[in-house]
Amino acid sequence: MVDKFIHKPVMLEEILSFLEPKKGTTIVDATIGTAGHAIEIVKRIAPAGKLVGIDRDQESLEIAKERLKEYGSRCIFIHDNFCNIDKILTSLDIKRVDGVILDLGISSFQLSNATRGFSFVNEGPLDMRMDRTNSISAFDLVNNLTQEEIASLLWQFGQERFSRRIARMIINKRNESVIDTTTGLASIVLKALPHQRQYQRIHPATRTFQALRIAVNQELESLEIFLQKIDKFMSKGGKICILTFHSLEDRIAKINFRNLAKTKEFKLIVKKPITPTIEEVKDNPRSRSAKLRILEKV
Ligand SMILES: C[S@@+](CC[C@H](N)C(=O)[O-])C[C@H]1O[C@@H](n2cnc3c(N)ncnc32)[C@H](O)[C@@H]1O
Repeated sequence: MVDKFIHKPVMLEEILSFLEPKKGTTIVDATIGTAGHAIEIVKRIAPAGKLVGIDRDQESLEIAKERLKEYGSRCIFIHDNFCNIDKILTSLDIKRVDGVILDLGISSFQLSNATRGFSFVNEGPLDMRMDRTNSISAFDLVNNLTQEEIASLLWQFGQERFSRRIARMIINKRNESVIDTTTGLASIVLKALPHQRQYQRIHPATRTFQALRIAVNQELESLEIFLQKIDKFMSKGGKICILTFHSLEDRIAKINFRNLAKTKEFKLIVKKPITPTIEEVKDNPRSRSAKLRILEKV
């Protein structure tokens, strides 16, 4: 049942070739999801290595546990936000790690489950929380923020040109009744946009949904905090691989990597991010916007 939704790991070959997970090393997969990258990493570090798999999403973590169960205590699963990486590693008594992977955003497993509210295609509740124990959902933002706050959120996190029009339309609809479904919100966005935007390559609600998801999950803050903390835990030769899917997160990775490289304790492995091959994009369209950056502790 679950198998058909399991996420295809993006740029797997490239990540393995840069990360070079060796037998006996300690690797952190800070966005383990359904373990697509992790399973290949664990095979390479076994039998003595250790994998710390972190995810905010308990359901994804359960799938990762199931897929990696044959490796027993070599895999440690943590339900937490990766921005707490310092507390997580300290509580595990891990002082240094040999590699880190961050594969940002959400997985196909989360996107395809309509009840999670990430998809504008399938009707579901307006939720979008990666961690369902968090209190604020997309419903709360859409139904409680002011028109100005909604417009600024859509502009800031979705770079949506028509943020004001969409915000105005949301407020008008909200005056009639609460907005509580993904498809309900998508149709409001569609009505708010000028005619030509309704027929573009990407779905007209893509930017609005991206903005809400980033805000609900405080995605950019989490990435920024993680990148301010992880350097102290890297061992010599250890690499940090970050896969981003939109320019806002790529910019944060780029700036933080550049600042770390300036200290001379780290070096950029690639100046420009690596992108997936044409074959991968054909096989897995979700990979089309991926950008991979790699930093090494020297
Ligand atoms: C693109 S998926 C990872 C897929 C995984 N690499 C695989 O191949 O199966 C991203 C995962 O990161 C998790 N995630 C995103 N932001 C997070 C954060 N700040 N802390 C912990 N997990 C996070 C999401 O819940 C999701 O499961």
